[in-house]
Amino acid sequence: MIKTKIPLIDLKAQYKSIKKEVDIAIKRVLDSTCFILGPEVESLEKEIARYCGVKFAVGVASGTDALILSLMAYDIGPGDEVITVPFTFAATVESIILRGAKPVFVDIDLKTYNIDVKKIEEKITARTKAIIPVHLYGQPAEMNSILKIAKKYKLKIIEDAAQAIGAQYATGGIYAIKAQSIKRKKAGAIGDIGCLSFFPSKNLGGYGDGGMILTDDKKTAVKIKMLRQHGSEKKYSHSIIGSNSRLHALQAAVLRVKLKYLDKWLDKRIEIAKMYNDLLKETGVILPEANKEMKHVFNQYTIRLKNRDKIKQLLAEEGIATAIHYPLPLHLQKAFKFLGYKKGDFPQSEQATKEVLSLPMCPELKKQQIKTVTEKIKNKLMILKKKK
Ligand SMILES: Cc1ncc(COP(=O)(O)O)c(C=O)c1O
Repeated sequence: MIKTKIPLIDLKAQYKSIKKEVDIAIKRVLDSTCFILGPEVESLEKEIARYCGVKFAVGVASGTDALILSLMAYDIGPGDEVITVPFTFAATVESIILRGAKPVFVDIDLKTYNIDVKKIEEKITARTKAIIPVHLYGQPAEMNSILKIAKKYKLKIIEDAAQAIGAQYATGGIYAIKAQSIKRKKAGAIGDIGCLSFFPSKNLGGYGDGGMILTDDKKTAVKIKMLRQHGSEKKYSHSIIGSNSRLHALQAAVLRVKLKYLDKWLDKRIEIAKMYNDLLKETGVILPEANKEMKHVFNQYTIRLKNRDKIKQLLAEEGIATAIHYPLPLHLQKAFKFLGYKKGDFPQSEQATKEVLSLPMCPELKKQQIKTVTEKIKNKLMILKKKK
């Protein structure tokens, strides 16, 4: 087996850089023996709410649960339809199906890999209750258009911001930018509800599973707090059907340490993406297109190229890890076949799954490693070209 020389992400290096603080935070929880909710979770909720610019944040067990509980909060279930994309992680769609509602797919825009807002209205029916835009790879979807559509048809917006904590979007759009009256909002703070994931590989990742729900609406926040704890506001009193979906105190303690570094880490990711862009221009590969209205935070740095699988394999032989986010669109996955979609229904998503390739990306990536990755890509592209 070939040893990985350049990993996709380097969580060990990150832990090393904050080890002292993290170890103290973990010990604090162990000493307190307060493992379920309590002060660490409450403090993190306040800190994340402040960071994201919302009134309320509720810690839950995972990003997947954040989506499920959000749908539960709006009583979305059997007979209801929810609009989302087929080019995302399975959890976005799973959550809708687990609620008994029907996911209705809208294709993506290949430039941003996010929902094609021009195609949303034609999918709205009397049964549509919500839109779940996904801010894929860390770039916000085109929220101004989504906000307008949601208002027109009275739909809820549940943002899947699992990959996009800290990303920003200029509400008011390009005109606001021209008039210099930009109002930037953080991903997850634009719609009615925002869902975050603290899966370890996320830009703010815990040391296990975790998630958070963001909202400005007090009633919704109170309901979600009940839903995450067996539908109860106080012990052994259950007024609605809930679940067990609490963020662990140990995760909250780790995440509180990491949150202090988040902006510095995001800046580093943006710097690395710029370097990749510079080194890969004129190679023919399609680079990520960061819209000026947005702050893309590059949870993944994803390029697009025709001979993706061959390049991936050749890079692996050199010890360079890459990933495919995602290799098969959800409408063609076995689990979602029952929805009745077929090949060709979402051509942009299908093309993306054949061509996307995520390169090593984490704040700890060194300049020399970036150079090595890009040089190897250029080399391999040349070899393939000559072979033709
Ligand atoms: C777009 C998207 N949605 C939802 C999720 C689900 O989050 P989690 O793994 O924390 O359940 C993830 C992450 O894995 C994701 O990338």
